[in-house]
Formats: sequence, structure tokens, C-alpha cells
Amino acid sequence: MAVDILIGTQWGDEGKGKLIDVLTKDVDMVVRYQGGNNAGHTVEIGDERYVLHLVPSGIFRPEVKCVIGNGVVVDPVALDEEMAKLRERGVDTSNVELSDRAQLIFTYHRMADALNEQGAVRKIGTTGRGIGPAYTDKMRRCGIRAITLTKPDQLAEKFRAEAEKYNKLFRFYGAPEMDIEAELVKVLEAAEHLAKLVANSVYTINNAIRAGKKVLFEGAQGGLLDIDHGTYPFVTSSNTISGGACTGAGIPPQSVRDVWGVIKAYTTRVGEGPFPTELFDAMGEKLRQRGREFGATTGRPRRCGWFDAVASGYSCMVSGVNKLAVTKLDVLDDCDEVALCTGYEINGKVTTEFPAEASDLEIAKPVYEFLPGWKCDLSNVRKYDDLPDAAKKYLARLAELVHSEIAIISVGPRRDQTFLV
Ligand code: IMP
Repeated sequence: MAVDILIGTQWGDEGKGKLIDVLTKDVDMVVRYQGGNNAGHTVEIGDERYVLHLVPSGIFRPEVKCVIGNGVVVDPVALDEEMAKLRERGVDTSNVELSDRAQLIFTYHRMADALNEQGAVRKIGTTGRGIGPAYTDKMRRCGIRAITLTKPDQLAEKFRAEAEKYNKLFRFYGAPEMDIEAELVKVLEAAEHLAKLVANSVYTINNAIRAGKKVLFEGAQGGLLDIDHGTYPFVTSSNTISGGACTGAGIPPQSVRDVWGVIKAYTTRVGEGPFPTELFDAMGEKLRQRGREFGATTGRPRRCGWFDAVASGYSCMVSGVNKLAVTKLDVLDDCDEVALCTGYEINGKVTTEFPAEASDLEIAKPVYEFLPGWKCDLSNVRKYDDLPDAAKKYLARLAELVHSEIAIISVGPRRDQTFLV
């Protein structure tokens, strides 16, 4: 049995797409279990660059089954378009399956997302994809699930009823209303294309596990954006930690072998919310430019800062990360010194614990440990032993601080710029 979960350990954008692509050479199935098309998983193969939003990152290997699990919120029009674009580029999408229990996102969710942000005292800085409102509908028990894509009459009826409720809300706030019939045409067209993908995926996944197949669960976003464990309220609306795979795909906890934590050698964040190690100086700009830190989904510049071992350590602890995949180590190549945040000073007291309150994190002053930089190009290194001592020391300290072990290092965006430790 080989069932692994791969998650982001920070605020997303750790390079999960690339790692999943690397790991999928040995797996039979890749499963997305939470989030939606707020995710942007970048995979570079040769000179081709792909950004996946809903389709699992196993898609580039035709023998791998790609399942969108019950915990994902799926915009059917966006999924239909994403798959069509992949096919135009010669990618075989016939192995994609969509859980009948997955909740659907519609235009009214995106409009509500925008309205929430406009009316907020402090914006979250969402991706605007309707993720929060779709999960809200799931919990209010008025969401529409993917099974309904296979029943056009029911879909039209439920869509009209829900859309009318949202239009009432939009009217109340003086916001523009949605053209229900025009949107329904798009939804029904997408439903016609997607209906054949819909399946009782909890069985697909558990049958594969029972048959001893290798299954990889692909987390989206990162542990610090988790609805319970992240920097609430500046979080996404799903459980991004490894435990989310159990509820979001319907698998038992004891089926899991390894939890891979993708961890960037420094820290980034998009959207609002506390970020204790954020750098506002030339170093922050350097990380952004060298690391090409611009959002894969929204194109927004990412906020950049030093590695935060308090925040990432919390995230690794909650997810039980036992294998670390350190990404973008090469971005730090020309730093004289590299810093790791080992504690926070909050109101004059130093703590190594990650606080629950965003307001505490906002005033937290990072306590840094500085190590010498390696000042050489790592992008061509392909073996751990070939890393300079300074890089090895930095990695060893990082792993020690987050109580885990490094298993993979990535020194560039391409598939081949990755090696096992
Ligand atoms: P939402 O998921 O669109 O509701 O956005 C909530 C917060 O999560 C915002 O700060 C987003 O920028 C952030 N977020 C959502 N998805 C991603 C992602 O895939 N990478 C990084 N940040 C994300």
C-alpha cells in the first residue's frame, strides 16, 4: 500500500504542481481533495509551461488516473474550459474523473465573493473565484453537487432557484444582478461535456487503495491558509492540511503512508493577512524577481520574506509532515546571509508557538537566526553531495526547526532540476 499526501506547508505557491508532477512518475492515481480553481499549479515540461487550476497534476502522464474529489468546489464552466485548453495542447484528458459529491461553483458565487470583498471592513484579498460562497452554500446545505450535472432538468431547476435567491441579495445591496437564463445556457453546455466524468469517486479511490495501487493526494493552497489552522480570517475556506484528504476524498486515516510537505526556502503570500517575516526592502524585491513571484491564478505580485520556521513548523506539525520537499533553494543563491525566523516577539515576550490571533501575528517581531549565504549558482546541482556546505547547513537547520526530514530538493522550475536526498 502506498498512499501519500502532498501539501503546501506555507501560504500556498510552494511549487506543489512541479513536485506532484515529479512524484507522479511512480503513481497510479492523483486526487485533488479541497479548494477549487483558486489554485494554480504550475508544471514545466521541456519548454512548455502549464498552469492547472482544477485538473490534478497527474494529467501529463496518460497512465495516471486523475480524480477531483468530493471536497473540491468545482466551477463546471472553468473545468470544461481548462480541459478543452489542455486537449488543444495535445494533453489527453480522458483519465479525469469528477466526484458526484463535489460541490459546484456558479457565477453567482463569484459575484457574491466580489460583493463580500467590497463590503468588508478588511478585505481577505480572495482570488475572486467564488470559493468562499460555494463552501458557505455547502455548509448551509443548499449547494448543488456534481451529480446534478448528469440530470439537466434538475440542474436547471436548482440553478434557477439558487440564482434567484442570490439576485434578491444583490438587489438588496444595490449590486448588479445575474442574468440567470444566459448563465444557465453556459452551465448546461458545460454539464453536457462533464456529465461523463461524474462518478462515485469514493469507491474509485478506495478500490484503488485496497488493490494496492499508488495514490497521491494533491493538496492545494497551503497549511497556513487552512480554515481552522491558518491565519484566520485571512485564509481560504477549506481544510488545506493533510487531514483534509480524509474528508475531502473519503479515505480512512490509517491508509496514509507519507505526508510530503512542500516548503519554499523562503516565504511568500498573496492576498491580505499577517506575514511576520515579510520584507519591504530590496531583499524582498530581489526574492520576488528572482523567484518569479507573481500569482499563477491572478497574476498578483506575491509578498516575499525570509523563511518562517514558527509558522511553517506549526503547519508541518498539524499535517504530520515526515518528508520535506524544499523548493526554490536557488532563489537564495546570491544572498550574503540567509535568515530563518525561529521565534516571535509579541508584546515584549518571545514565543516559538504560532498564535491563533491574526492581531498577535500582525504585531509579532520576528526573531532571526542568520547563516552565511553560499554565493554560487545551484541551478545545475543534481546531487545533495554537490551542494555547498553553507546550503547544506541552511537546509539542515530549516529541517531541524520544523521537526521533519528533507527528502527532495528543487533548484529550478524544470522537471530535471530536482533531486532526492
Ligand atoms: P480564496 O481561496 O479565493 O477564498 O482566497 C482566500 C485567501 O487564500 C486569499 O488570501 C488568497 O490569495 C489565498 N489563496 C487562495 N488560493 C491560493 C493559492 O492557490 N495560492 C496562494 N494563495 C491562495
